[in-house]
Amino acid sequence: MISGTDERRILDTYARGAGRYDAFVSWITFGLQEYIRNRLVERLAPKRGDLVLDLACGTGLNFKALEHRVGPTGRIVGVDLSADMLAVARRRVEKFGWTNVTLIQSDVTRYHPEQSADAALSTFALGLLPDPGLTARRMVDMVRPGAPVLVADTQLVPRWYGAPLNPVFRLAGRPWIPRSVEARYWSPHPLNAFTAVTVGFWREEWLGGSVYAAWGRRPGGTTEAAK
Ligand SMILES: C[S@@+](CC[C@H](N)C(=O)[O-])C[C@H]1O[C@@H](n2cnc3c(N)ncnc32)[C@H](O)[C@@H]1O
Repeated sequence: MISGTDERRILDTYARGAGRYDAFVSWITFGLQEYIRNRLVERLAPKRGDLVLDLACGTGLNFKALEHRVGPTGRIVGVDLSADMLAVARRRVEKFGWTNVTLIQSDVTRYHPEQSADAALSTFALGLLPDPGLTARRMVDMVRPGAPVLVADTQLVPRWYGAPLNPVFRLAGRPWIPRSVEARYWSPHPLNAFTAVTVGFWREEWLGGSVYAAWGRRPGGTTEAAK
């Protein structure tokens, strides 16, 4: 569970940055951000009519790709700690006229959905969360047996060409990662917590290793392997 200090620092950071977050993401992904969201949602593979949880949803940059998959009969619940990020998400929802999106202000590890979801994802937030083990368990508890969960985040490039690139990533991340969280954020995210609570766990690296996506399914239900 998030400490009061971390919570305050994250709230301050995203209160300052909410208005320019989308522009930053466009810039740092060289305009590939929509492509990345589409690929992430493709990996999660929710179906029409599904209920999907977007945990630490920020300004709702995954919603368009999710809407495309779940359609008007599906539902998206976006959960985030920051009222300022959610305010931007709300404007996006209004602009596109999506009537099937619910936004909830909460710490993801304290959130309890009203019903089990058909899929859950958390993108570019895992490194900010204090306890990946708890996050993994909570995410899996939020979905029905057999349902997929996906996490994705940035990481330092684990290859030789990371040497010149990684300091740039660290610098670019500064406005979005409170100083007290920086060391944790840039350490390899302990994804074995997800391996322990899912089946068919899979991991992929994109953009030269600077982004990873990892996904699996809650055991039980239709235990088809993760795609
Ligand atoms: C870098 S942004 C990512 C936003 C979005 N998921 C995306 O892919 O663009 C990180 C988000 O995580 C949220 N966050 C950090 N810690 C959180 C927590 N414990 N519970 C819920 N949201 C959290 C922040 O408020 C912020 O909106």
